[in-house]
This record gives sequence, C-alpha cells and structure tokens, in this order.
Amino acid sequence: MGNLLEIRDLSIQFQHHHSIVRAVEQVHLDIKENEILALAGESGSGKTITALSITRLLPPNAKIVSGKMIFSRPIIGMPALSGQARDLLTLKPQIIESIRGKEISYIFQEATASLNPVLTIGKQIQESILLHQRVRVKKNELLNAAVDLLKLVKLPHAEHILRSYPHQLSGGMNQRVIIAMALSSCPKLLIADEPTTSLDVTIGLEIMRMLLELKAKMKFSILFITHNLALVQEFAQRVAIMFRGRIVEQADTKQIFSSPFHPHTRDLIQSIIRL
Ligand SMILES: Nc1ncnc2c1ncn2[C@@H]1O[C@H](COP(=O)(O)OP(=O)(O)O)[C@@H](O)[C@H]1O
Ligand SMILES: [Mg+2]
Repeated sequence: MGNLLEIRDLSIQFQHHHSIVRAVEQVHLDIKENEILALAGESGSGKTITALSITRLLPPNAKIVSGKMIFSRPIIGMPALSGQARDLLTLKPQIIESIRGKEISYIFQEATASLNPVLTIGKQIQESILLHQRVRVKKNELLNAAVDLLKLVKLPHAEHILRSYPHQLSGGMNQRVIIAMALSSCPKLLIADEPTTSLDVTIGLEIMRMLLELKAKMKFSILFITHNLALVQEFAQRVAIMFRGRIVEQADTKQIFSSPFHPHTRDLIQSIIRL
C-alpha cells in the first residue's frame, strides 16, 4: 500500500511569555492508504498538536517551525497536475479549508461538546452534507441522505434522532452522529483523537468495531490517537509511539507488542498488562 500522507521533520513550538515550549520535534510519520495507524503516548506528548497541525487547526500561539506534509491525493482547486503529491504546509488557507472536513475529517473525544447544543441533530447532519456540495440539493434528497448516514452508523429510529437535540442523546449516540458527519464527504483520512476515551468501555469498543467496518466499506485511512494500548493492539495495523514531542518508535502492531524497542514503549505495555 502506498502512503496517503507523509509527515517529515515536523516541529511545532508554543510561545509562552518569554520562553518557548517545543511541543512537537522532528516528527516523521507515514499514514498508508486504507490502514489504521495508531499514534499512542502519554498525555502531553504532542499527539493532538500533531493531528491539529495537519489541517492548520492549531491554537494561535503555536507555530510550525519546520516540516513537510506530503498528501498523495489530488487537491480540488489546485491546477490539475493529476495525482501529484502536495505539501499541505505550503497550501493557501482557502485550499486547506476545502480539504479540512472533506478529504481529511476529524472526530474528537467529547462528542457532545463537538455538536451545537441549540440545533437539532437533523439540522447539523444536513448542514454537514451541504457544506461540501457543489450542486443544489432538494429538501427531500437532503433528508434521505441524513437518514442514510444515521443508518450507516447504526443509529435506529432515524426520524426520532433527527428531531432530537444533542443533550437528549447519550455520549455514544452523539459520537455516532459525529462519525456520520465526518464521513458524509467520504474523506480519505479520518483523524480520530481519543474517540472513545470519554465513553464506557463496551460502548467504546462498539464504536471502534463500527469504524473498522466503515473503513472496510468506504476505504479510508484512520489516524487513531489514543493512550490506550489495549485498543491499539486490537485495532491498529501499525503504531507510532510518541514521547515528549518525538516519535520514538514506529512499527507493525505485532512487532511493537512482541519486541518493543524503546523503554517508554515497554513502560506503556507494562501499564496495560497491570490493568
Ligand atoms: N494551547 C496551548 N498552549 C500552550 N502550550 C500547549 C497548548 N496545547 C498544548 N501545548 C503544549 O503541547 C504539548 C503537547 O500537547 P498535546 O498535543 O495536546 O498532547 P497530547 O494530545 O499528547 O496529550 C503539551 O505538553 C503542552 O506543553
Ligand atoms: Mg490529546
């Protein structure tokens, strides 16, 4: 399988009063087509900042000081050099905006907080469908598309859910809604940042299994960010271990668990064995 995204020498710093915090240092990461790559590491190691930088969602006091992000998909709005890979870091903001949420989608830990509390689920799903449509969509077609999306993420009683507000649904149901919205544009890369961390273990497992099925059906890659190595072992083909802003190890999942190289990886594995 070819690489969908190659991150090279990525360094990100925060300006903090008069000091500089090096949050991400010389990160090297390959995300292959149609794989689940886990990015694992303890809290504060730089996972989220790495993920946000891919489509420039960083907080304003963060600065990318070096790096390349070669994306192997043709980019809408760029001259048609067919299939030519692009460095995302060099693209204009409006081009990145057209990629974000379309070619590259995100889901985060707190599903309920990611939704707008004053709009119904139906309204929010329909808006996400419309966001990347270039042609006008009829009202009933839009409704049918929203119902189809809810079926895709296995939410029964679609009509009832579409009329509901986020606080009327459980965290697990809201995360399914968020996944439906993230996949409505058929992205090539789904960045899932601790998608099950705020959910019960069994609900989290159901959601991960569903993501695996959807990936097989729709063919996209997942950058699965977690500090939970048990989930990594079950769901990821490859793992990158992050420690203090650096990738200290990147290998097939089986290999990492059978012969971990870096002491930090061994510590992480020890911690799941203790659980
Ligand atoms: N908004 C921020 N302001 C200043 N520093 C930040 C901010 N967000 C993150 N950082 C720094 O970046 C590091 C990595 O953060 P993050 O990527 O969120 O970690 P992780 O997702 O692995 O838990 C943190 O340890 C912190 O030093
Ligand atoms: Mg994080």
